[in-house]
Amino acid sequence: MRRPVEPDAPPGAWTLRRAQAADVDRIVDIEKDGFLHPWSRELIERELGHSWSRVLLACATDASGDERVLGYIVFWIVHDEVHVLNVATAPEARRRGVGRALMEAAEEEGRSRGTRLSTLEVRRSNAGAIALYREIGYRQVGTRPKYYAEENEDAIVMVKTLG
Ligand SMILES: CC(C)(COP(=O)(O)OP(=O)(O)OC[C@H]1O[C@@H](n2cnc3c(N)ncnc32)[C@H](O)[C@@H]1OP(=O)(O)O)[C@@H](O)C(=O)NCCC(=O)NCCS
Repeated sequence: MRRPVEPDAPPGAWTLRRAQAADVDRIVDIEKDGFLHPWSRELIERELGHSWSRVLLACATDASGDERVLGYIVFWIVHDEVHVLNVATAPEARRRGVGRALMEAAEEEGRSRGTRLSTLEVRRSNAGAIALYREIGYRQVGTRPKYYAEENEDAIVMVKTLG
């Protein structure tokens, strides 16, 4: 899933690329804006080091060539499954298709590596994320009671078959 960014590209165009160590500051900032309990810098750095983990970024480039990270996704490819651990879009870039593009990129990589299933957990209260997942074909297959222990909140377990 890739959108070319041309010099005259309309607002909202972006490219996807793998994250590097230099991107961690920006990921940490988006984490803080997106989550009650954001991932720590150490956790993000650890994901960058795991061979089974992928951290992809959606990036916009302005007219002067400066890149801005709009969002990211962290997913694992383990055995025959993609597992999405984290996805977030910067508040100013939401509802422009960034989250969808990141999810589709994870699925695409899974397909290209022979996986048949993508799974994730999401807070029951996270209506926006659940709407996104449903929109792109995930279905609820169960719950994990009080999975988010700090708030005693259930996780919804969602699955998508990768055709
Ligand atoms: C959830 C999140 C990643 C969505 O990212 P996004 O880039 O805004 O999503 P998209 O623009 O690709 O949305 C695609 C579709 O998903 C649905 N959707 C996304 N966010 C929604 C919301 N807040 N409310 C209702 N539907 C939503 C819509 O159908 C949307 O299409 P539309 O804008 O044409 O109506 C973003 O809101 C976010 O970062 N939230 C904070 C972090 C978070 O909760 N991450 C999920 C952890 S499990």
